[in-house]
Amino acid sequence: MKSRLDVIFDEIQPTVSFADVGCDHGYIAKRMIESGKCSNVTVSDVSAPSLQKAEKLLYKYVKAGVVKSICCDGLTLVDKNVQTVLIAGMGGEEIIKILKNSPFLPPILLLQPMKNTDKVRKALFDLGYGIIKDYIFYDKNKYYNLLVAHFGVKVEPYNEREFAFGRDNLNGMSEQFKNYLRHEISVTEGYAKRVACEKSLQEITQKLTLLREILNENS
Ligand SMILES: C[S@@+](CC[C@H](N)C(=O)[O-])C[C@H]1O[C@@H](n2cnc3c(N)ncnc32)[C@H](O)[C@@H]1O
Repeated sequence: MKSRLDVIFDEIQPTVSFADVGCDHGYIAKRMIESGKCSNVTVSDVSAPSLQKAEKLLYKYVKAGVVKSICCDGLTLVDKNVQTVLIAGMGGEEIIKILKNSPFLPPILLLQPMKNTDKVRKALFDLGYGIIKDYIFYDKNKYYNLLVAHFGVKVEPYNEREFAFGRDNLNGMSEQFKNYLRHEISVTEGYAKRVACEKSLQEITQKLTLLREILNENS
């Protein structure tokens, strides 16, 4: 089974310039250079100690001028001509804030939010992106969503289910997505047994019905 970083790396296409925003360790940047996918790479992070980890890992590439390292919030100080931007491992609301506050919108985005993926999907549409790929994957007991979005590309608008679960998941019904639904059903059943408030129980029951519907419609 591929690791989270393997899945993300494999999804990034060769590109003229690449920025990993919130890079922390800098592993993806290193692989971008060493694989030959990109020779103009930026690593950025809002936290200086995090960025220092990437600078250490990428020392020889920074020295050679192949990697630029920038300590900043989101995309604020990143070169506005950068072609491909990765934002991975942050909450969806932080990702949305970064995109909304950015002085420019990159042509290609790869996003791997840790939560609130539905909100990220909506924000991408609002900002003028078309979502090209949108799927769930599994690594080390966790499910992750990966979105690839291209600026200015028109795609059929998402419906509410697609915003909640992702178009490729609903269309493709991969084993990983089915396992995710089974996992969510079991977690939600656990909540339903514990919850005391009537309103919360109603919401949980609705959620369970929807999860079961999607799973049963497709099995
Ligand atoms: C959990 S790490 C993820 C590291 C890496 N992207 C990955 O997916 O493995 C999140 C990183 O995002 C950084 N970060 C959080 N908010 C940020 C922001 N607004 N701008 C830039 N970096 C940010 C944090 O400092 C941290 O290094």
